[in-house]
Amino acid sequence: MKFFLDTANVDEIKRINELGLVDGVTTNPTIIAKEGRDFEEVIKEICSLVDGPVSAEVTGSQAEQMITEAEVLAKWARNVVVKIPMTEQGLKAVNTLSKKRIKTNVTLVFTVAQGLMAAKAGATYISPFLGRLDDIGTDSMALIKNLRKVLDNYGYKAEIISASVRGLEHVEKVAELGADIATIPGNLFPKLWSHPLTDKGIEQFEKDWATFSNR
Ligand code: E4P
Repeated sequence: MKFFLDTANVDEIKRINELGLVDGVTTNPTIIAKEGRDFEEVIKEICSLVDGPVSAEVTGSQAEQMITEAEVLAKWARNVVVKIPMTEQGLKAVNTLSKKRIKTNVTLVFTVAQGLMAAKAGATYISPFLGRLDDIGTDSMALIKNLRKVLDNYGYKAEIISASVRGLEHVEKVAELGADIATIPGNLFPKLWSHPLTDKGIEQFEKDWATFSNR
C-alpha cells in the first residue's frame, strides 16, 4: 500500500519522509492557504523533497482554463500531478490531459459513478473523500469497496487515493478493502506507528533493565 502525505507543510514532509514512508503528497487550495506561502514555491519545494507524485490543484472552472493551468503546473517538476475537480468540465480537461500524457488526480469524488467517469476519462488517480461522506451519514467504506470492484471489473488502471482521512480506522479499513493509496494528514501519520501499550511496555522494560543493571 502507498501512503501519501496530505499536507503542504515541508517540515512535516521532511520528518515523515526520513522514515521512508512517504510515497507522494497531496495538496488542495485549503492546505496550501494554511501555509501562507507562494503556491509555486511550495509545490516546487515539495517536489524536490519527495520522489513520488505531488498533487497540485487547478483553480479554473472551465476545461480550457484547467488545461492551461495544468500545462503550467506540469512544467514545475517531473512529479507534479494535476488535481482536477469532479465536474463535467473537469472530465473534459482530464480527457485532453490524458492524451497529452499529463497525470491527473480527480478530486471530490463521492460516488462509484463519479469514480467510474473519472477512470473512463483517463484519470491517473481518483480521490474519494471519506471523512466528508461520513459527515453526511454515508458509508464511505462501501464507496471504496464498490469502486475497487468496479475498476477491477473493467481493468481500469486508475489508482484509488483514499482522501479526507480522519482516523486510524479509515486507514486500516481501506487497506483491507484494497485502496491503492491513503493520503494522510501530517498530524494523523504518527498514529499509524503508535500505541499507548507500546509506550507503556517500553517504560516498563526500561525500569526493569535499570533494576537489573544496578545489581
Ligand atoms: C486530498 O486530496 C483532499 O483534498 C483532502 O484529503 C481533503 O481532506 P478534508 O476533507 O479533511 O478537507
